Amino acid sequence: MSKVRAGRDMTRLLHDFGHELPRVPQPPARPKEPRLFRHAPRRGTRRRGRGWAPASAPVSSWRMTSDQAPALWPFVATPGLPATGAQMGIDQLSGGSFFADPLGWVLADQVPVTNPNIFSFGKPGRGKSGTTKAFCLRMMDFGYRTLICGDPKDEYEPLCRALGVEPFAIGVGLPARINPLAFGPLGQGWTGLDAAEAQRRAAVVFGRWLTLVRGLVGSQRIGQARVPFGPTDEVVVTNALRQLTGYAQGQSQLAETTIPALWHLLDNPTNQLVAQCRYGSARQFFDETRTLRDALGQLVSGALAGLFDDRTTIEVDWDAPIQSLSLSRLDPLGDDAVGIALTCLGSWSRGMRELAQPGDLRIVVRDESWKQLRLGTEAVKSFDADLRLSRFGGDIQFAVAHKPSDLLGVGDAGSQAVAIAKDLLHLADIKILLGQDAAVGDELERLLGLGPIARDLVTGWGMQGKGRALWCVGEHPYKVATVLHPLEAELAYTNQNIDAAG
Ligand SMILES: Nc1ncnc2c1ncn2[C@@H]1O[C@H](COP(=O)(O)OP(=O)(O)OP(=O)(O)O)[C@@H](O)[C@H]1O
Ligand SMILES: [Mg+2]
Repeated sequence: MSKVRAGRDMTRLLHDFGHELPRVPQPPARPKEPRLFRHAPRRGTRRRGRGWAPASAPVSSWRMTSDQAPALWPFVATPGLPATGAQMGIDQLSGGSFFADPLGWVLADQVPVTNPNIFSFGKPGRGKSGTTKAFCLRMMDFGYRTLICGDPKDEYEPLCRALGVEPFAIGVGLPARINPLAFGPLGQGWTGLDAAEAQRRAAVVFGRWLTLVRGLVGSQRIGQARVPFGPTDEVVVTNALRQLTGYAQGQSQLAETTIPALWHLLDNPTNQLVAQCRYGSARQFFDETRTLRDALGQLVSGALAGLFDDRTTIEVDWDAPIQSLSLSRLDPLGDDAVGIALTCLGSWSRGMRELAQPGDLRIVVRDESWKQLRLGTEAVKSFDADLRLSRFGGDIQFAVAHKPSDLLGVGDAGSQAVAIAKDLLHLADIKILLGQDAAVGDELERLLGLGPIARDLVTGWGMQGKGRALWCVGEHPYKVATVLHPLEAELAYTNQNIDAAG
């Protein structure tokens, strides 16, 4: 084999004959910066202790800047929350404890929430009520009292009794009645009020009643559709209520009224009422208020009968750590009756809280609120009005439903319903998303704006254990597993019936 001999280049040739070519000065070599990151081989470095694997790991590698990382991997960047309030369980991403303190979060500038309300969603049996009970119980140490605003399954009774409180049972034939048209504390001392304050209070009270009647009437059906409640109905109901309470006559002491009394007046209108509502004659009044009167009549003889149709008979001790209104006895009357009861209780409790003392901290729980929300758009609006109060009153509203589309009202997927649902969701800056079936994934994205990673967590990891939930605190998601103390687990146990069947 011949060896290829390299010839002399021009510089070398001239050098051999004594000529030196000028050289371009070379800049001094820059010291090499040490490499910050090294790209690891797919199976790891093949050295002892370096985690080499014989098979390649099924991972894909990504390169991005630290600006881009939180957008693709939102959980990596979630900042920690202050360690105040109820210690709920384990924050799976930091490995530390997760603390829930809604009012504290509103006050802390670094936490992106502006209201302390909570919406909890989850498939039946995933631990929504268990999480709610643990939250209420643990917040008691921080001075919070709890109002269970309707307990359709009587499942809060063990918790109440453990705290030495006997819950109120509401059912046909039982003595407890609640008048959703009660004045509440705003009706006290009316005689001593100046005209401006009396007017302000009247606006609040009549507004609350109107929203309630609208929700109740709108929950009734004509065939498949819900009964409409338009501006004319609004004028009629407001004028009738003003007349019944004596406000229209300028009385200094207002009289309490009831829904049957409202129906009765509309069925037997006075000339004054007909004139105030701008009808030409009683005949015209009758003709144009027929649907309204019939819907009220149906409620008075049906869902409200014996429960919400007379003056309140219970004396609620607002200083007790917890109060609850058990509704399981309404079960045989059907879901609609329970929903109507929840609507009445929601409005009533809102009235009771209208003059809360500063520092009177309360969690108002609306478990199974989907039963109210499925009564149609008007019932959703009434729920919405009850929730709005807390921004000013300082209560924490804790609403529990199955899935975000519950807020759309059953059979109403129109754009108005979606707009109302989205508005309602904004009233709760804190959302607890327990496990959901994959089929609900779409609406988590559409109504809550969850990205794919968060959605998969709710439909995947969340389904693998009770109490596992994604807590959305404003825009920040936290992957939290609520841990129950054995005593709490006993108080929150709701599988008795399933056990009995087994
Ligand atoms: N964090 C938790 N850890 C362990 N078990 C839990 C936890 N939370 C709830 N459970 C248990 O799971 C069962 C169902 O819980 P829970 O009643 O809270 O479900 P739910 O989501 O409210 O269901 P539903 O929609 O039917 O009301 C209960 O027996 C309860 O004891
Ligand atoms: Mg429950």
